[in-house]
Amino acid sequence: TQDLPMRDATATAAEAMFADAAAAGLPLRLTSAYRSFESQTRINAQLVQQLGQERADIASARPGHSEHQTGFAIDVGPLSGVCDLQACFGETAEGQWLVANAHRYGFMLRYPDGLTAITGYAYE
Ligand code: DAL
Repeated sequence: TQDLPMRDATATAAEAMFADAAAAGLPLRLTSAYRSFESQTRINAQLVQQLGQERADIASARPGHSEHQTGFAIDVGPLSGVCDLQACFGETAEGQWLVANAHRYGFMLRYPDGLTAITGYAYE
């Protein structure tokens, strides 16, 4: 994986997952990992500016509320870059492999489609 900060346990699990995905012919890439309060503040403020507060609130956690700030959360996309950080990633072979296998490495899909009322966030 690339040089993005995360907890050791997260890195160990991610490396195993990325290796197995690549061995299955579905190479992945790490898009985002640990975020400091300051970087979450910056990302969130940018989305609020682009989308307005209401739409930003289901796309980006407010500073202090993001799982990225724990060091346990990662964003993963296909090495090809196709549909990276977009909902259509879920329809790619890489995205489907992740949905079927991420739990074997201790990861889960956050946030599933259609569960915004429960999770508070749009599908991602
Ligand atoms: N995009 C997710 C919800 C976050 O900002 O942590």
